[in-house]
This record gives sequence, C-alpha cells and structure tokens, in this order.
Amino acid sequence: MKYSFDEIIPRKDTYSTKWLKFSDEDVLPMWIADMDFSCPSDITDEMTKRINQGIFGYTDTPPLLTETFVSKVYENTGWRIKNDWVVWIPGGVVGLNVACKTVLAPGQIAMVPSPIYAPFTEAPENMERGFVKNFLLDSDGRLEFSSETIKTILTEDTKLFFLCNPHNPGGTVFKKEEIEEISNICQERGIIVCSDEIHSDLILEEGLDHIPFASLNNYNQENSITIMGPCKTFNLAGFPIAAAIIPNKELREDFVRNTKGIVAHIDNIAFVAAEAAYSKAGLWHAELIQYLKSNRKLLLERINNIEGISLRGPEAGFLAWIDCRESGMKTPAKFFIEEAKVGVHDGAWFGDENYVRLNFGCPKSILDEALNRIEKAFSQRN
Ligand SMILES: Cc1ncc(COP(=O)(O)O)c(C=O)c1O
Repeated sequence: MKYSFDEIIPRKDTYSTKWLKFSDEDVLPMWIADMDFSCPSDITDEMTKRINQGIFGYTDTPPLLTETFVSKVYENTGWRIKNDWVVWIPGGVVGLNVACKTVLAPGQIAMVPSPIYAPFTEAPENMERGFVKNFLLDSDGRLEFSSETIKTILTEDTKLFFLCNPHNPGGTVFKKEEIEEISNICQERGIIVCSDEIHSDLILEEGLDHIPFASLNNYNQENSITIMGPCKTFNLAGFPIAAAIIPNKELREDFVRNTKGIVAHIDNIAFVAAEAAYSKAGLWHAELIQYLKSNRKLLLERINNIEGISLRGPEAGFLAWIDCRESGMKTPAKFFIEEAKVGVHDGAWFGDENYVRLNFGCPKSILDEALNRIEKAFSQRN
C-alpha cells in the first residue's frame, strides 16, 4: 500500500464535531459520518497551492471539475450524464431540502424509508411539508424495501420518494430488481424520486455494483434528482460540496431557482479539493476501500461473537448498523457509551432505538480497542 491509514491523528484541537461530542474523555467517538484518516497529498497539495495564491473572492464553478465528475460517474457506474445536468450545491443535505422545496406543493408529502439518516425526515418538515415513513424490513440483517407496504401507504398526495442508496444507516446496496420495483411504483403514480447516492463510491461487498436509480430507464432519468459527491469518499465533509444531477431541464431550472438567495455559494477551496479528489486521488480511494474491507471483516467476526448483538454488512460505506434486539436492552446506545465507552450513534436518531450505528472509518488499532471494550462490557453484563 502506498498510503497508510494506521496513523492516529489527534482531532480535538481542530474542533472536530466527532471528537468533541462526548464530555467523558474516555469515550472513543465512533458516531458521525466522517473518517479519522487524513486526505492524501494529492488533494492537500492542490488546496495548499490555492491557499498560497491568497485571494478568496467569489468563484465560478471550475469547468474541469464538472468534466472530471461526469467521467467518474461513467467510469464508476456506466451512467452517461451531461455536464449541464450537474448542479453543484454545498452539501448533500442541502439537496434533500431543495428537492422538497422544488417538488412538493403545499399539502403534498414525501415518502421516506425508515430507519434513515435523520435529515431525510427533517427536510420535508423544514419546508413545511409532510412525510410518510415506509419501514424497511430487516431480512437476515439486510434492510430491504417492501413494495407491498409502499403501495399500501402511498396516497394521491405522495409526490416525492426519497431513496438512499447505498442506504444509511443500513449499508444496503440496492440491486437492479429492487430499484426496478421502486421505479415501477413511482412511474405508475407519477412520483419524482430524489436518490441520495452519496455513499456510492464506497462499495465493499464483492459482486455488488452501484446502480444509479436514474440510470435504469428514461422515466427514471427524467423524473429524478440524484445526489452524489466527494465528501464521504474522500473525507471532505468539512468542505461541503455535492452534485445534484438533474437531467430534466424544467425540474433542474426549478431546483436552481429554489436555491437562489438561500443556498450559499460553494467555498473556493472545496471546488479545488473536489476536483483534485476526482482527478488525482484514485489510488488513495482504492486503498481506502481495501482498508475499510479489512476493518469490516474484523468488526463482523467480533461483533457476531457477542451474545445479544449482530451485524451483517454493511455492503457499502464505513457505518455499521448493529442489531441489539436480542440483547434485551431498552437503550443499547447508552450501554455502549456509558459502559463500554464506545461513542456509537444512537439508533433512535435514525428511527430505531434497538440498533446502534458504529463508524469504522478509523485506524485499525482504534477499532480493535473499541471491540475489546465492547466485548468486555458485554461479558460483564448481568
Ligand atoms: C446519506 C447521506 N446524505 C447526506 C449526508 C450529508 O451530506 P453533507 O454533509 O454533504 O450535507 C450524509 C452524511 O452522513 C449521508 O449519510
């Protein structure tokens, strides 16, 4: 490996949200979705060059960024997108909110999977629109859609369907047949899909590929907003930048109009970082995936040996959705944080308090220490 992911880098001095969360100094923070790895110099050298120029005025979107991104989407997924379909926005969550503002008229609602990364349910609320949850089924540890349930709870007013693929927190990479089912339902009812695919460059499961919802057929392409971006893949969450890919001109123009005066412009260093990430950090990205696969293997082996908790996957990403239903605990997150001193993300925030989400995007020694603590705390439970 050219890059090392083993180094432990102190983060509290940089006001890291992740590392400042727990007042108990002994708790290892493994919650919010950023990784404890430094960006490669392929990215930081370009940022440094830009900083050294010293002027940080208003900045247009660098055309090379869009071109590089468009090629990457094709390289990674086979989906041929056009440059002018891409709307750069300062972060994926902005995209979820603007999608609600664009698609939903007063009285109309979004359908949101559950459990889900909380900003999906917050977005309709922020825009004073309603939402209905479709509860995903836990099929032997894999979170899956139930088309029957979706059909039952859809109403005339459901005009937007939120997809999160790969899914956060479950880590499911939806297969072609699964996406087709959603597509059929949405096509039948004229529903627009907002597909958040921000974790799609981090597929870990052998034999699985990321299939963008919009790439499946022309209906999907013309009736969707796809959100992708470099922040999760290249650990750039502090420089918010994401792409909303909107092939339909009318929908795209509405979306852009709804950002006016509300959505901040993109940080000029974020543009540089994103362009360098897509054009220069391919090897780092490939090695990161190997490292995450190895961390996932360790996690699966050891978590599944502890009575009362279980884990399958994730098929993508660096977030493990640990099932604690068999543990008999009412508040498993409290146990992980207070007894094991492992700062997981409480499943309640995603809509299911019987699970905890653990971020394994960290040096192996930290993961190993967290697993030691979890094993010890469970062995001492009475
Ligand atoms: C599915 C998903 N979408 C969006 C985001 C956040 O994106 P951003 O920080 O670019 O707003 C996250 C962060 O964890 C996420 O998991």
